[in-house]
Amino acid sequence: MSTSENEVASYAIIGFGNIGKALARAFTRKGMKVSVAATRDPESFATDAAAIGPGIIPATLAEAVKADVIFLAVRFESHPDVAKALPSWLGKTIVDVTNAYGVPLEQLGGQPSAKVVAQAFTGGKLVKGFNHLGAAILGQDPAVHGGRRVVFLASDDDGAAAEVGALAEDLGFAPIQLGGISEGGLLVQARGNSWGQLIFKDLVKFN
Ligand SMILES: NC(=O)c1ccc[n+]([C@@H]2O[C@H](COP(=O)([O-])OP(=O)(O)OC[C@H]3O[C@@H](n4cnc5c(N)ncnc54)[C@H](OP(=O)(O)O)[C@@H]3O)[C@@H](O)[C@H]2O)c1
Repeated sequence: MSTSENEVASYAIIGFGNIGKALARAFTRKGMKVSVAATRDPESFATDAAAIGPGIIPATLAEAVKADVIFLAVRFESHPDVAKALPSWLGKTIVDVTNAYGVPLEQLGGQPSAKVVAQAFTGGKLVKGFNHLGAAILGQDPAVHGGRRVVFLASDDDGAAAEVGALAEDLGFAPIQLGGISEGGLLVQARGNSWGQLIFKDLVKFN
């Protein structure tokens, strides 16, 4: 992982709402730097970022996408706008935390939502993950009851899956690799008006 010349962190979180802030707390807990971007001027959320920790760096979207690993923590509907920030996402790893709950399957061409996101981020390596925990839980210390809270990961790129798995470990989570997006990954993706078949079966929707 390289840090770019103008001090943008190697990690970025796009979206500084419920999930973006929860992820920022995870980075802060481990003393890791991460840049955060929203639709707003970075100055407008600098106080909120500083309240989480000194390593949370408010950035514009253009600055944030210089990072190597980029968490996508926006509403599913906003992902095409974020994707426009770069002409090519070659060399970037995108962690898709979105849940396309309630998005009609026809709008996704019948595909898993992560496939649709992957297509928008041309050239990037996409890992679906961190999306099954509500923000209030995701923001808490993952070291619980003598164990570690699980995050599920799925990707069609084994290298990216391993990279994000290592990051999840660094953040204190226990990653579970589910395989490709269309296979294992589909188990933890919202689909139409249903949550992922494996773990959301008996849960209510988060938002
Ligand atoms: N909330 C949960 O418990 C939960 C759990 C699992 C997964 N998720 C998924 O995580 C995603 C985020 O949920 P959330 O609850 O955090 O939503 P949220 O509170 O509404 O936050 C969305 C964030 O995205 C930013 N944003 C929107 N368009 C953008 C763009 N074009 N460029 C940069 N930033 C942009 C917004 O910026 P502004 O702040 O400037 O408006 C805001 O900070 C959703 O896909 C949701 O399904 C949520």
